[in-house]
Amino acid sequence: TPKKAPPLKGDILVHADPAKFGQPVRVDELSADKLVRAWPQGKDENGAPVIRDGDPTSILAIYRFPKGELKAPTNLEATVDGEIVAYGDRCTHAGCNVDDGQGPGGRSIMNCPCHSGQYEPREGCRVIGGPPGHPLPQLPIKLEGDRLVATETFLSVPYGYNKEEDWEKYVQ
Ligand code: FES
Repeated sequence: TPKKAPPLKGDILVHADPAKFGQPVRVDELSADKLVRAWPQGKDENGAPVIRDGDPTSILAIYRFPKGELKAPTNLEATVDGEIVAYGDRCTHAGCNVDDGQGPGGRSIMNCPCHSGQYEPREGCRVIGGPPGHPLPQLPIKLEGDRLVATETFLSVPYGYNKEEDWEKYVQ
C-alpha cells in the first residue's frame, strides 16, 4: 500500500517529529550536528497526499554539511549541492532508529542506541564502529522550490528487505 511503500521518486520529505509532523522539511532547518528525522510523502491511487509512515524502514535522517565535508562513498550527485544528504535511519544491524552521536575528538557521527553501531554520515554512512554489516542506505534527493524531493528510492537495499524477493520492484 502507498503508506507502507519505501520512499519513491517524487516524494516530498516531511517532518517525523511530532511537533512538526507532516510539514515539509526546510533547508534552513538542517545542520551538520543534529539530524532531522523525516518521512517521505507520496500520493495514493487517487492523488491524495500520503505520508509513508506505515513501514519503519522508510524513516529518514537528513543533514546539511558545510561544502567539502561530504565525500565518497557518499553519492554526491544524489545530494543537494554536495551539502544536503538523506539516509535511511533504520540500523542495518537489527533495525533500530539511529541517532546523533559523538565520534573521536567530539566530532558528530551517527550512533545506534541498541548495540552502539556507528556510522559516518559525511562518508556515505559507512560503518565506523559496532556490529552493523552495511552502511545506511542513501536516498537521492533534489531541491524543488523550497522542498526536498526524492529522485528515486534508496540506493542500496535497506534493513528488512530481501533484495531478490521484495526490493527489486521498487528500483527503477
Ligand atoms: Fe543498531 Fe544493533 S540495531 S547496532
